[in-house]
Amino acid sequence: MGVNIRGRNFLKLLDYTPEEIRYLLDLAKQFKNMKRNGVPHRYLEGKNIVLLFEKTSTRTRCAFEVAGMDLGVGVTYLDPSSSQMGKKESIPDTARVLGRMYDGIEYRGFDQEIVEELARYAGVPVWNGLTDQFHPTQMLADLLTMEEKFGRLKGLNFTFMGDARNNMGNSLMVACAKMGINFTACAPKELFPAQWLIDEAKKIAKENGCFIRLTEDVEEGAKDADVIYTDIWVSMGEPDEVWETRIRLLKKYQVNAAVMKLAKPAAIFMHCLPSFHDTKTTIGAQIAEKFGLKEMEVTDEVFESKQSVVFDEAENRMHTIKAVIYATLC
Ligand code: CP
Ligand code: NVA
Repeated sequence: MGVNIRGRNFLKLLDYTPEEIRYLLDLAKQFKNMKRNGVPHRYLEGKNIVLLFEKTSTRTRCAFEVAGMDLGVGVTYLDPSSSQMGKKESIPDTARVLGRMYDGIEYRGFDQEIVEELARYAGVPVWNGLTDQFHPTQMLADLLTMEEKFGRLKGLNFTFMGDARNNMGNSLMVACAKMGINFTACAPKELFPAQWLIDEAKKIAKENGCFIRLTEDVEEGAKDADVIYTDIWVSMGEPDEVWETRIRLLKKYQVNAAVMKLAKPAAIFMHCLPSFHDTKTTIGAQIAEKFGLKEMEVTDEVFESKQSVVFDEAENRMHTIKAVIYATLC
């Protein structure tokens, strides 16, 4: 039977089968080809979506806006300070108001429970544009990028280095398990994903013929990897005070030339972005001044190297988000 996800929410990959994820990736490839060849695809004219952001964004916001506009959809953006949600209006009330006006709702914010609650009340598809626990639209872009680079997903060795218990580490572990990719979290024990999620990912991985491994050892973690992935060490919503501890914990997990050398010669470097790989940002400069660290989770050398595919990944946010909007609203 064909895959049909019309009317569904997109809140976390745990809710999706490998076949449904495959369908979204194939659809994204079709949209990417159409866009590249200038073929119009305004299939959703007359529909409207709203983008609700409680945290800042460049890629996710722009990807939803461009994808929506390419599909002929009307797009409203609500920034972190311009909606009543949370402050004057509850999540259920906001969901029911927006659900009366829009055909789909994107939400970026804090606890996963907020987006789950929005979805319970909205009556229209809700898409998770990042919460503290999960970042599912980023997963589709990452899977598409890996498939483009290697021509397959099954059997690849994927290593995530850094803060493995955050939205990116959690989501990548699940995404790999679903798609038959061997996943290694290379991180200090304190920053391993929650045990319930590790157990769940291991169960899924077993069904799909791959493994989930956690190690504190950089050499073991990076050896023979096809993909080395990292994320910023302090995520949105975390207090500035955690920088010191985080730097102490994660310094040895920085992705540098020595780490890339441990991986396979054809390995690629990936990052969801934004990234602190130099001192050209306000925070990058502040950290350099305070802690004497000019590069954080990845060195500038690796970030700018031929192995780095971070901008292909960023572009794929748009094609994959377009697939999610289309497949759930068509
Ligand atoms: N990767 C990502 O979600 O980027 P933004 O925070 O810019 O949306
Ligand atoms: N872990 C990062 C991901 C950014 C896309 C954050 O939440 O800030």
